[in-house]
Amino acid sequence: MALLCPIVTHGGTMGHDEPVAFGGGNRGEVVPDWEHPDTVAFFREREADVRLTEIVDSGAVRPPTSVLDVGCAAGRNAVYLAERGFPGVAVDASAAMVAATRERLAAYAADAPWRVLHRGMTELGDLADASFGLVLALGVLQNAPDDATFALALDHLARLACPGARVLIQNFGPDSLPHGEPLRRVPGSAHVWSGFDQVDASRGYTLPDPDALDALVTERGMELVAPTRVVWKEMKGGRRTTIIGDYRKRSP
Ligand SMILES: C[S@@+](CC[C@H](N)C(=O)[O-])C[C@H]1O[C@@H](n2cnc3c(N)ncnc32)[C@H](O)[C@@H]1O
Repeated sequence: MALLCPIVTHGGTMGHDEPVAFGGGNRGEVVPDWEHPDTVAFFREREADVRLTEIVDSGAVRPPTSVLDVGCAAGRNAVYLAERGFPGVAVDASAAMVAATRERLAAYAADAPWRVLHRGMTELGDLADASFGLVLALGVLQNAPDDATFALALDHLARLACPGARVLIQNFGPDSLPHGEPLRRVPGSAHVWSGFDQVDASRGYTLPDPDALDALVTERGMELVAPTRVVWKEMKGGRRTTIIGDYRKRSP
């Protein structure tokens, strides 16, 4: 059951308040070039995700709980957590993002050690089952080009979360209108949509709607902590939908 919030948020509530175009040599598309120095700089300057800070401030998750941050970008959330004594593993497919995150986390190595892995979200097979008490997948699962990749990444998150672990997932929604035009469902897929990427309009992104996301997550042993939220953000020439799921791994 999704709680719809038709509001335009600010101050990082969505975790994706970046302008449509980053400018400065980036390609200026909705889906940025993750290796571009301007993109890294943009993500580096961002403050930690507000839903994460709310969870930490509430005391629901405390150090030394180990954290998995998949799609860590330039480390805003990992650094926030390391500053507070949480150790963890950060993963990103971009070499430039990984380099930035490693550099920023080095200062905390003694008290809050982090491994920063340069790899894709489906390449988590060597990480031990049930080893994380907080799992973040913010703005990353949607990059799965097909349903099977999305499912495999989610399988890993569910396997790696320990009983009781908090799992935060944020994804764009299929009703986004990134360029003012509806996305197009890729024929034969359940949740894959094209039209997001201006440079490669045929590139598919896996964008389950809120109920489908909840179903995919709960069938993997998780339950909702709060109703999944949907936030719409007006963009130049369009609109972007963000789905925010707050889940907990069930105890066996
Ligand atoms: C929108 S940013 C993530 C933001 C970050 N989680 C945050 O809250 O600031 C998306 C990140 O996912 C990474 N990424 C894209 N595809 C990926 C994949 N298949 N596996 C792992 N990381 C990926 C990108 O390099 C980028 O750093």
